[in-house]
Amino acid sequence: MNSTENSNKKVLEVKGITKVYKKRTVLNNINFDIHEGEIFGFLGPNGAGKTTLIRIICGMTPPTYGEVFICGNSVQRQFKKAIVNLGAMIENCQAYSYMTGYQNLAYFASLNGNVDHLRIDEIVETVGMTARIHDKFRTYSYGMRQRIALAQALLNNPKLLVLDEPTNGLDASGVIELRKTLKILAAREKMAIMVSSHILTEMELLCDSFAIVDSGKVLELRSKEDMEKTGSSDKQIAISVNYPNYACKVVHEEYGLFPEIAGNSILIPFNRDLYKKIVKTLQSKNIAVFGGRVETKSLEDLYLDILKNNRK
Ligand SMILES: Nc1ncnc2c1ncn2[C@@H]1O[C@H](COP(=O)(O)OP(=O)(O)OP(=O)(O)O)[C@@H](O)[C@H]1O
Ligand SMILES: [Mg+2]
Repeated sequence: MNSTENSNKKVLEVKGITKVYKKRTVLNNINFDIHEGEIFGFLGPNGAGKTTLIRIICGMTPPTYGEVFICGNSVQRQFKKAIVNLGAMIENCQAYSYMTGYQNLAYFASLNGNVDHLRIDEIVETVGMTARIHDKFRTYSYGMRQRIALAQALLNNPKLLVLDEPTNGLDASGVIELRKTLKILAAREKMAIMVSSHILTEMELLCDSFAIVDSGKVLELRSKEDMEKTGSSDKQIAISVNYPNYACKVVHEEYGLFPEIAGNSILIPFNRDLYKKIVKTLQSKNIAVFGGRVETKSLEDLYLDILKNNRK
């Protein structure tokens, strides 16, 4: 554990969470922590188990094994104490269509026991709904409904904000605004934020740390510390050759790698010694090597690689 982690409090602890439906294991021993001020991405394809984990974190579904702690309180054993620190947005926004956006927020605030109009105004401003907040909910577009859902999640000023696919249905400027909003909440209010998504390009710009999940298993976990050291990207070397398909086959047979082909290049992991050896091998097979170029892999490439390797 590094010094940044020590100085930041753990807000969410997911410990050994497993969920079995009938005989199907949809979450398999999931473990991670999120600290205050950190934005964590939970990334995976459809059916990976993202919503199931978020429902467990919110106490809406019990885990088969394991436990979730929010600010040190167990969601499973100390539900009320844990849940006061949580704001969540899961799937569709639940609201009354005949009320205005503002009335909905005031109503939900009253369920928590207190309606602080200044706080509501501030949240409405934060989610960019000031201009339309007194219109009826039913007249809102999908993106506006998402914003109201986010506002609802922020009402109790939570220490942990959990958002299931929050960029679904948002237009490009909506995504940019949401990113700004979440970054401000993390920085200014020290909120810990967990966001699930399958849209990697958006997550790369948003998250400080992430987990890549598939079929209920965490395949890759990058802490904030890892990301600070290496960035979200990994490096690779593109070797430009005259016969990329043949070169790919040779590298697979000789080194057990599965290089991808990009135009006239094959892509190998970033390793200078390996690069030199591969060049020699290719030349010994009469493949012309025109050069090597270091490229950085985006989170999207990394994600696809990890999923591909896991499914082999
Ligand atoms: N109530 C349930 N009963 C049985 N199986 C379920 C139930 N809820 C979810 N599952 C299964 O658990 C797996 C994970 O589903 P989940 O909704 O968590 O995935 P997801 O990652 O959120 O997917 P998406 O990107 O499509 O939202 C799926 O195989 C799903 O069919
Ligand atoms: Mg889902």
